Amino acid sequence: MSIMNQNTIIKLENVFVNLKSNIETIEVLKGINLNILANKSICIMGHSGAGKSTLAMTIAGLENITKGKIFYKDQPIHDLKEDDLADYRAKNVGIIFQSFNLLPSMTALENVNLPLEISGNFIDDRQSIKLLESVGLENRINHYPHELSGGEQQRVAIARSLISSPEIIIADEPTGNLDKKNSEAVIKLIFELQKNHNSTLILVTHDKSIANFCDEIITLDNGLIL
Ligand SMILES: Nc1ncnc2c1ncn2[C@@H]1O[C@H](COP(=O)(O)OP(=O)(O)OP(=O)(O)O)[C@@H](O)[C@H]1O
Ligand SMILES: [Mg+2]
Repeated sequence: MSIMNQNTIIKLENVFVNLKSNIETIEVLKGINLNILANKSICIMGHSGAGKSTLAMTIAGLENITKGKIFYKDQPIHDLKEDDLADYRAKNVGIIFQSFNLLPSMTALENVNLPLEISGNFIDDRQSIKLLESVGLENRINHYPHELSGGEQQRVAIARSLISSPEIIIADEPTGNLDKKNSEAVIKLIFELQKNHNSTLILVTHDKSIANFCDEIITLDNGLIL
């Protein structure tokens, strides 16, 4: 068992991740050591292809590690079977993607409820409506994604990432598809919600001015932390 600082929520020890394309296997993460503190925000920066999204998805339990260890509190995530890993994700992690990833056939409200539906948890519309209100979408609850602007779709995705009250929010370039004004609003909202929900924020961005809002910044280069 690894010894953890009591404020550590995620710990990576010498983590390697290989990804297979149809022609070759690429070593994407090459021995990551990282301590993520609870209730803090950490920013992952680095050039395109450095492995930022892979690292974020590894922490989210969406990527299998090739070698090394990853702990959530004292629980080894690297040992979990697929079902338990899905459980870890559903309980503890909320994810916001660059491309919003809303389901087009579902309304804003249904999209926000989706993680609960997938994990078979009780759905209480009052809770999801409250979250949609908190992202300023009280008048868009029954709209479909194609009836929403990009910034509004991202706000639905933010509300969705919080529906299970996750301790960890992972946002992978959440403003990558938004204009400056919407980016600022979305970033402000993410940090505000992180504070209100007392969660840990892991934010991937290329934007130094956004990174500066975080408690800590790490830079990835070619699969390693600089
Ligand atoms: N499924 C895959 N199979 C093989 N290689 C992959 C796969 N997904 C990503 N890669 C490679 O892994 C490396 C890291 O990818 P990753 O998406 O983590 O980079 P990134 O730092 O998030 O880049 P960006 O800033 O462009 O989003 C890249 O070289 C990419 O080509
Ligand atoms: Mg990426």
